[in-house]
This record gives sequence, structure tokens and C-alpha cells, in this order.
Amino acid sequence: MRRPIVAANWKMHHTVGEAQRYLHRLLELVPADPPLDLVVLPSATSIQATAQSLAQTPIAWGAQSARPEPEGPFTGELSVRQVCELGASYVICGHSERRALFNEDDKLVSRMVKAALESDLVPIMCVGESLEQRRAGTDWQVGEKQLDVGLSQIEEQESARIVIAYEPVWAIGTGVAAQPEDAQQMAGRIRTWLGNRFGASGERIRIQYGGSVKPDNAQQFLELANVDGALVGGASLDPDSFWQIAQAAVR
Ligand code: 13P
Repeated sequence: MRRPIVAANWKMHHTVGEAQRYLHRLLELVPADPPLDLVVLPSATSIQATAQSLAQTPIAWGAQSARPEPEGPFTGELSVRQVCELGASYVICGHSERRALFNEDDKLVSRMVKAALESDLVPIMCVGESLEQRRAGTDWQVGEKQLDVGLSQIEEQESARIVIAYEPVWAIGTGVAAQPEDAQQMAGRIRTWLGNRFGASGERIRIQYGGSVKPDNAQQFLELANVDGALVGGASLDPDSFWQIAQAAVR
């Protein structure tokens, strides 16, 4: 049995004060020993406050991205080493917005995933096709290449800690989620790929769906056989809505 994992990707939202109020409310909602992994991914300015608010709580936090190099001339960036120092447990690697807006390619993503694992962070590696790629019928080719290159440096014995987020680009922030059958098909293909690449460990890797997940549609994704959780953007910006989604993962 894979433990469900639901993560809130705040993207570039919430000031420090808003983050603190959010986490205060979320901690009122979440029981002491929730039956799933809950992860909050704040923007950089709220990391410190998040780390403080969530210390000794059942909610983990992570970074929305982190460079693999320990230090260096990367203006505006954070390194895996820096977010580890603050107590991060997770890091998103290769979110489609970073691939599109900041030219992150599969090779960089592969170095990020490796650096995360070496620093005991759980990488949440995002894969997913654009609308053009889906229309052209190349959605699985795109996903397969992202997996092939992104996980090329990973050994079987470290692979079970990885989380894969299937996020079709056209479903992100659009309000139009994938059809559950499409998510099911892609998650199934990802699961098969993971099994071929990592053997029995591939069965332990958790797969999330992301893209316009909301309280009223979460259940239909979270009940799919190969979907073990959700990576939520817009609907995670409100703590009550995020917790509603999380509860759908354990029903
Ligand atoms: P939305 O839930 O806003 O579509 O964003 C999904 C996402 O990109 C999570 O990483």
C-alpha cells in the first residue's frame, strides 16, 4: 500500500503574514496523526515562517524548485543545500512552469532529482504534455522522455522515495482538469515504466495527478488505481479547500 501524498504548491502567492494565517488554520484542521503525507510548498520568502510554523507538526514542507549546485552564480535561485539547511523535506523538480518560463530541461531536472535524493529530500518530479503534444498524439512520448532523462541517474535502491507528479500542462491553472480516464491511462503508463526501470521498487513510487484539482473533482482522481495523491495549485491557496482535497485521498 502506498501512503497518499497531497501537496499544496502555492506558486508565487501568499505574503509571510498570509502564510502564517494559512498554516495556523490548516493546523486546526489536520489531526495529530493524519493517514497521509501532507506537504506545503511555499514561495521562497515564506520558507522560514513555514519552517517555524510546521516544526513538530504532522505537515511537511518543501521548496518549489532548487538548483543542484551547492552554491554559485545563479542570481535569484535557491540551492538544494540551502533549503535543506532550513529543514525542507521535499522539492519540486521540473514543474512545467519552470520548464516553460525558465528553460529548465530534462538534463537539469535529472541533476535536481539526484541532488535532492543525495540530500535526503524527496523530489516531486513533474511530467506532462502540452495541448499541442496531446493533440498530436505524442503525450506518452513526451512523458516517457521526461522519465527517461529525468530519472537517468537514479539507482533502484534510492528510487522508492521519489514522487512523480503527472501534470498535463493544459490542465494547469485553466480550471479544466484532465478526464479521469486520461489521468488513469497516463498514470498506468508511468507505473509500467517505473516497474520496468526500477523493478519492485517501482511499485512503491507514488504518482500524483495535478492540474485544476478542486474539492469537487479530487475524489475522481484520487480513487484511481495508480494515482496516490495530488499536487494542487489554485485550490490549495485556501487551507479549508486544501484539507478537503486531502481528505478525498484517504476515503
Ligand atoms: P492548478 O491546481 O492551479 O491547476 O495548478 C496545478 C499545479 O501546477 C500544481 O503544481
